[in-house]
Amino acid sequence: MEHQTSRPLDDRVVIVTGAGSGIGRATAVARAEAGAHVLGVGRRRAALEETATMHPGIATLAVDVRLEQAPELIIGSAIDRWKQLDVLVNNAGASVRVSFDEVTRTRITDLFDLNVIAPTMLTQAALPHLRRSRGSVINISSTFGHRPQPGAAHYAATKAALEQLTRTWALELAKDGVRVNAIAPGPTESEALSVSGLPAEDVIRVKREQADQIPLGRRGEPGEVATWIVHFADPTATWLTGQVLTIDGGLELV
Ligand SMILES: NC(=O)c1ccc[n+]([C@@H]2O[C@H](COP(=O)([O-])OP(=O)(O)OC[C@H]3O[C@@H](n4cnc5c(N)ncnc54)[C@H](OP(=O)(O)O)[C@@H]3O)[C@@H](O)[C@H]2O)c1
Repeated sequence: MEHQTSRPLDDRVVIVTGAGSGIGRATAVARAEAGAHVLGVGRRRAALEETATMHPGIATLAVDVRLEQAPELIIGSAIDRWKQLDVLVNNAGASVRVSFDEVTRTRITDLFDLNVIAPTMLTQAALPHLRRSRGSVINISSTFGHRPQPGAAHYAATKAALEQLTRTWALELAKDGVRVNAIAPGPTESEALSVSGLPAEDVIRVKREQADQIPLGRRGEPGEVATWIVHFADPTATWLTGQVLTIDGGLELV
């Protein structure tokens, strides 16, 4: 019960997209443990329900964040339940590993739709409530948002876009007291690689190569990223805005 001694997010309302697995699930649980009311969003109802069993403070909503009506549904669901919104974590995202020769317009468009346009529209819908609560937005980027990654150029480009949106929104929203920051994880245990289109044997190889490349000698665990997402949303982090914090075992340095 150690987490209950300091409940930095007590009674705050937090939306986490992509909460059915990986970093999003760990974030939903960490925030609920910190005392927040959490709305976990994703497409797979069963995955979200599994997340919800991990803490009674987690409610869920199954919706595809790319749908036009998704922002209204998601924000409306949090407001109907708790009448306020303090933190939006734009975590739902995907990577695509494909060579330049094989990349197609459809794949690029789909990737930008999920990683850039969906968080934009969701943040826009959240704004009136975040202005009222003087809340904050946390975008989940990647080390590869500012470090080139051969074979995943367009994934890296979506995360670079998200980092620049983070800095620009921070300036645009500063006058309203709304803070906007980003966390940029390095290779972390999650479903991301297995749903990226890589065959299972390649997933194992890539994981090994990544671990060898990371100065701390291993891939990260979702909880090691989630803990920083919680710090960024802490109501006492009142002077932090427009920042991108990389958490990657030192990968961006090499
Ligand atoms: N793991 C890494 O190595 C790593 C490194 C750097 C950055 N990141 C970033 O961290 C974030 C979380 O990824 P993760 O590693 O935790 O991978 P993950 O386990 O694949 O989680 C992604 C989550 O997003 C949800 N999602 C995907 N498309 C969605 C959609 N259209 N609408 C609603 N939800 C959707 C997925 O659930 P459903 O399929 O049920 O919708 C899934 O729960 C992503 O933005 C990723 O780019 C990950």
